[in-house]
Amino acid sequence: MKIPFHKAFLGREEADAAADVIKSGWLTMGEKTFRFEKDFSAYTGAENSIAVNSCTAALHLALKAIGLKPGDEVIIPAMTFIATWEVITYSGAKPVLADIDRHSFLIDPHEIEKKITQKTRAIIPVHYGGESCDMDAVMEIARMHRLYVIEDAAHALPALYKGRMIGTIGDIICFSFYATKTITTGEGGMINTANSEWADRMRRLRLHGITKDAWNRYSEKGTWQYDVSEPGYKYNMTDIASAIGIEQLKKSDAMNAMRHEISAKYNNAFKNSELLHTWKVRDDAECAWHLYPVLVNTEAVNIGRDELIGKLKDAGIGTSVHYIPMYRFSCFGGSGSSASGFPGCEYMFARQVSLPIYPGMTESETGYVADTFLSILKENRR
Ligand SMILES: Cc1ncc(COP(=O)(O)O)c(C=O)c1O
Repeated sequence: MKIPFHKAFLGREEADAAADVIKSGWLTMGEKTFRFEKDFSAYTGAENSIAVNSCTAALHLALKAIGLKPGDEVIIPAMTFIATWEVITYSGAKPVLADIDRHSFLIDPHEIEKKITQKTRAIIPVHYGGESCDMDAVMEIARMHRLYVIEDAAHALPALYKGRMIGTIGDIICFSFYATKTITTGEGGMINTANSEWADRMRRLRLHGITKDAWNRYSEKGTWQYDVSEPGYKYNMTDIASAIGIEQLKKSDAMNAMRHEISAKYNNAFKNSELLHTWKVRDDAECAWHLYPVLVNTEAVNIGRDELIGKLKDAGIGTSVHYIPMYRFSCFGGSGSSASGFPGCEYMFARQVSLPIYPGMTESETGYVADTFLSILKENRR
């Protein structure tokens, strides 16, 4: 592929940091992980940050922290990655899907309200593409109905909502450092919360539920003795991953600036075209631009989204679709009648394509993607 969908922005610093951990002889969770947590708290303004091995693990532990039980309901957008949905089922609880707004691609607060029942315990807003949900509206609904807010911020580092950093607003906020995310540790995640009791519990649960210094039991400072307060999980981050994360975090602002530049170039290239719809981002927020989603104007062109993706691939351009709405999966009963309750998702899914946006993409690469995309649409104008 001439221009892949994503290429991680990694350098000598990450390679040296990982090599130092390997040379140290201590590879799993230890000092580097605690340092990464502190750096992450400082960067996002959080009271507590807990490093785990994925955002999926982060979301699962967040739901454990709020005490989610079988039969409880949690409201999520139908347009998200499957992880947001599956973690709710881990506790025997029920994911309840809400439609999105077709212009912002974010969960629609009115749709959240429609889905609230006696059994609702929490809302998981997803900051799609790095764009903040309408957090004032979400927090207000949560306060009125006494619900917890767990933010799926897998795409949203660094992002702002009305001047506030994503990572400090909801009850618990979960980030991803998966290979394609805005900073990466290969696989990894982080949990932010201002609730120190929850933080302590999630710290225990990420390592089998054993007492907090157990990671240290092979060092001079440690002891072989530990207790298990409740059964937990194997969700801890390694020091190799954390060493990479520490270096990536230092580059986060610079990488963000590069993504902003690419998005501005795409916006400029597309601004006068009636053959597509660009994303409407909020004026009162700062998007992390993890994704650059575009909607094909299917009323103006004779080419479907899937054929368009094929033509871009032939031209050496990697793309993706974010996302297949949850109700379309066979575990949800397929795409039949369930789609009718989600006009926002259906509208978006029929038209959406994500273009490459990654730090290190050159001006000529961005230009090539924009020009190729536009010429395919023009060739297929109705
Ligand atoms: C919206 C969203 N939530 C959760 C996840 C899960 O993240 P991880 O792969 O770190 O478990 C992803 C990953 O792609 C995601 O895009």
